[in-house]
Amino acid sequence: MNFHANVREGRLLSNRGRHGAIVEFDGVSKLYGPVQALRPTSLRIEAGEFFAIIGPSGSGKSTLLGIIAGFVSPTSGSIEVDGKDIVSFPPYHRNFGMVFQNYALFPHMTVAQNVAFPLRMRKLPKAEIAEKVDRALAMVRLDGLGDRRPMELSGGQQQRVALARAAVYDPLLLLMDEPLGALDKNLREEMQEEIKRFQHALGATVIYVTHDQHEAAYMADRLAIMRGGAIEQIGSPRELYESPQTTFVASFLGEASILPVSHVTPLADGSVEATIEGGPKIRAAALSPGRAPRFLCVRPENMLLGAEAGQADNSFDGIVDDAVFTTGSVRYRLRLAGTDHMLTARIPSRPDVVLMQPGQAVRVGWHHREALLLEGRDA
Ligand SMILES: Nc1ncnc2c1ncn2[C@@H]1O[C@H](COP(=O)(O)OP(=O)(O)OP(=O)(O)O)[C@@H](O)[C@H]1O
Ligand SMILES: [Mg+2]
Repeated sequence: MNFHANVREGRLLSNRGRHGAIVEFDGVSKLYGPVQALRPTSLRIEAGEFFAIIGPSGSGKSTLLGIIAGFVSPTSGSIEVDGKDIVSFPPYHRNFGMVFQNYALFPHMTVAQNVAFPLRMRKLPKAEIAEKVDRALAMVRLDGLGDRRPMELSGGQQQRVALARAAVYDPLLLLMDEPLGALDKNLREEMQEEIKRFQHALGATVIYVTHDQHEAAYMADRLAIMRGGAIEQIGSPRELYESPQTTFVASFLGEASILPVSHVTPLADGSVEATIEGGPKIRAAALSPGRAPRFLCVRPENMLLGAEAGQADNSFDGIVDDAVFTTGSVRYRLRLAGTDHMLTARIPSRPDVVLMQPGQAVRVGWHHREALLLEGRDA
C-alpha cells in the first residue's frame, strides 16, 4: 500500500478539524539489550500543549520522542494519538512534523523547494503547493528568500526553513529534538520566540526535547524531567521550580542549596523543625504526610544576607566563600559556620553595592515558608 493510497483511504492520521493531537503513553518502555533506555512510562499530552522534555544526557529523551516519531519501536506498551494506536504505523505514515538539531535541508534544492517537498510527496496540486509554501515561509519570516539555497542562509534562517518544512502540511503534532542546539545564544532566544509564535498560529501540539532548562521553562506549558530512563516529575515550569519532589528535580531546574537533615518534627503552626546534619536546627514548610524528608532545599533568591537575614525565622552565621558578579545579580557561595555545608545566595546587584569578600562573616537565613523539605534521592 503506498503513501497516497493510505491518504485517500484515511489510514493516515487525519488533520481535519484543526486542533493539536492528544498523545497518550500507556506503559511504554524501550530496552536496548540490558539498557533500559525508557522505563515503563504512562503519560498524557493534551491537544495544543507545548510539552518539553528535559534531563541529562542519556536519560531517555530522544528515545521517548523517537518512539512517538516511529524511529524507535517500543519494547512494551501502547501509544495512542487522538485515540488511535500508532505503534504499527511507519514514521512516514504518522504525519507528524519533525525538526531535529541538524536540520537536514536538501542542499541542492532552493528554500521554496525544501519547504514544498512534503507537499510534493503528498502530490498536492501545484497552485496549492505554491500557496502553502508562501504561507509557511511568511510564518517563519522568510518571505522573499524562497529562491536561495540553504548554504546562502544563516544558521537561524536555515532552522526556520526546517520549521516551515515541518509545518507546511499543518501537522497536528510537531516533534522537536534539540532544534536550537546548533545556534548561538541570541539566535536561540530569537528562535524560541519564533517557535512559540508559530505554534500559536498552527495550533499544533508540540513535544520539545532540550538540554536547556531555561529554554524549556520559557517555552513549555508543562515539562517532564527525565532521569535514568524514567520521568522523575511532570508539571508546569512554576510547579517544578516551586514544588520539586526530589533533590534531583530541585537541582536540575534552577539552582538550590540542598542540605541533609534529620530529626524532622512537626510544629503546632503546621511547619516542621529539623536538624541540619552536623549543624543547627532549622524550620521549614511542612511536607505532605507519608513522605520521608531527608533534605532541605532553599532557592538562591530566597536566601537572605546581613540585616535581612536577621529578620528571618531561620538565621545563622555564615562565611563568604566566593562572590561572583553575573548579569543583574551577585551570586554568593557561603559556608554555614561550624559546618562544611555550602549555601548559595543570589542578590540583585545595584551599582552602589559593595561585594563582600571571601572570608567575611555574614548573617545568612531564610523564611521557613521559602524552605522546602525533600525526599531523599541522591543528586
Ligand atoms: N540504538 C541504541 N542502541 C543501544 N543503546 C541506545 C541506543 N539509543 C540509545 N541508547 C541508550 O539509551 C539511553 C537513552 O538514550 P537517549 O538517546 O534517549 O538519551 P537522551 O536523553 O536523548 O541523551 P542526549 O541528551 O545525550 O541526546 C542511553 O543510555 C543510550 O546510550
Ligand atoms: Mg538525545
